[in-house]
Amino acid sequence: MKRSHEGRIAIVTGAARGIGREIALRLAERGAQMVLIDLERSEETAEAVGGDALVLAGDVSNIADWMAFAETVDKRFGRADIVVNNAGIYPFALIDELDEALWEKTLRVNLYAHFYSAKAFLPLMRRNGWGRFVNTSSNSIGTPEIGLSHYMAAKMGVIGFVRGLANEVGDQGITVNAILPALTNTPGTKAMTIEQKKRVWEQQAIKRFAEPADIVGPILFLTSEDAAFVTGQAIVADGGMYKIA
Ligand code: NAI
Repeated sequence: MKRSHEGRIAIVTGAARGIGREIALRLAERGAQMVLIDLERSEETAEAVGGDALVLAGDVSNIADWMAFAETVDKRFGRADIVVNNAGIYPFALIDELDEALWEKTLRVNLYAHFYSAKAFLPLMRRNGWGRFVNTSSNSIGTPEIGLSHYMAAKMGVIGFVRGLANEVGDQGITVNAILPALTNTPGTKAMTIEQKKRVWEQQAIKRFAEPADIVGPILFLTSEDAAFVTGQAIVADGGMYKIA
């Protein structure tokens, strides 16, 4: 039987660890040829994926790096099908501590990167009339978290960008959706105490800490042929905490 992502060229950012590493593993299991992007080369993920991943190092908040990623992917594969914008940072800072540099960095990595990915990879997707963008937002945009105003601004912006871009490329076989993960067990959340984590997951319908695998299921769907008619959506994978409608 043909696997759901057989023959697809799939680019994942922040692939070295956490949710991004799991996305790469599971897309590869489904047959995708992986392109792994992170600040440093994601050698460990590449090994776990099975050896034939294209491993690229670069900064997603830099448009020149994105143009170089696209050029390399085009040279190697001659096409690109899936971009999962997963790389992100979530430095806590109350408004009185939040300076312009941190505000700007948070928006550049979490939001500008998604715009750059579209500038770089839309031309390749358009060639085949098929494409999937999944852009990572966060369920924190609907929660009473403090110290995250810069992050929430960026992650809310992700949804606005997804909706606008989806409207423009809907007739080109390209879908654009957002994924909103719960607080998830990754290296990035290691510093939180167990009490802090419990306070969050006790608000969920499913009262346990989310694992990266919990977030990947909807991403597999959104990047598959099955999701051809789903676009401009914000899909919440948070154990039933965030309920808006
Ligand atoms: P993590 O901190 O464990 O891993 C993030 C990866 O992104 C790292 O490998 C890092 O090197 C890479 N990265 C960071 N800045 C980069 C840049 N400028 N260029 C290239 N790569 C860069 O993160 P985690 O927890 O796996 O989160 C992944 C995504 O999910 C992020 O967008 C985050 O905002 C989002 N998210 C995470 C939640 C959580 O509780 N872990 C909850 C909701 C959303």
